[in-house]
Amino acid sequence: MRTLASVEDLRAAIQAWRRAAERIAFVPTMGDLHAGHLALVRHARSRAPRVVVSVFVNPTQFGPGEDFEAYPRTLESDASQLAQEGVDLLFAPEVETLYPGGTEATTQIDVPQVSRGLCDDFRPGHFAGVATVVARLFNLVQPDVAVFGEKDYQQLAVIRRMVRDLCWPIGIDGVPTVREADGLAMSSRNRYLDAAERARAPLLYQTLCKVAAAVREGQRDYRELEREAMEKLAAAGFQPEYVAIRHAQTLQALETGQRPARVLAAARLGRARLIDNVGL
Ligand code: PAF
Repeated sequence: MRTLASVEDLRAAIQAWRRAAERIAFVPTMGDLHAGHLALVRHARSRAPRVVVSVFVNPTQFGPGEDFEAYPRTLESDASQLAQEGVDLLFAPEVETLYPGGTEATTQIDVPQVSRGLCDDFRPGHFAGVATVVARLFNLVQPDVAVFGEKDYQQLAVIRRMVRDLCWPIGIDGVPTVREADGLAMSSRNRYLDAAERARAPLLYQTLCKVAAAVREGQRDYRELEREAMEKLAAAGFQPEYVAIRHAQTLQALETGQRPARVLAAARLGRARLIDNVGL
């Protein structure tokens, strides 16, 4: 596996593969890789002979007071895991490489509608930061297919919409969330949980599963189900941000009985902000 940090080196490698008509699958990450990321990499390997992974902690998707500085940076162990997975190229640029004009006045991509509400109510500007960096990475890597986890479901919907709107010939594959044995969705931010919080954390997933089961069993009052789930999480010591039953593609509020649907939630538990979702 080659590890590259410059745009010039990356372009040279990509051009060589393009000339040989080799398809490229791409997995963008912020590093601190766990089994959830490795599932994305394995999926990417099944989709194309060449696999590129990026590790870049993107400053423009963190709001003021969020964990940009504290976000774990573990490039050495990330690189050795990726090499074992048979990845061809790791792209790990510096901030100045992806934002040569700085991060403040940079060109931004806004994907309206699907970016609004849910996480955006609590992390304003986050999805513009995600769309902006993913667009840059797509332009550099020129993948045929890019792979994202379903855990960040709103992010996946934003990327799908951006690619559709900008007519990029890139397939976007979503991979199901990888969970710990007790159901907690794997996330780099789980390390912020202390032992007592870690023991309580699976309640988020359990609550989502109960909401989904109630809908399947014919419960018609979605707003009431969302309210009850919020109350249950708050009673267990979470600070719930939202529990929402939404249209699975547009993420707009759902009329009773409409499909496809997704139940999504975000909640703070101690220092960690947890997000999760289940399909209906
Ligand atoms: O999901 C992530 O790790 C990030 O949001 C992404 C897609 C790599 C963009 O920085």
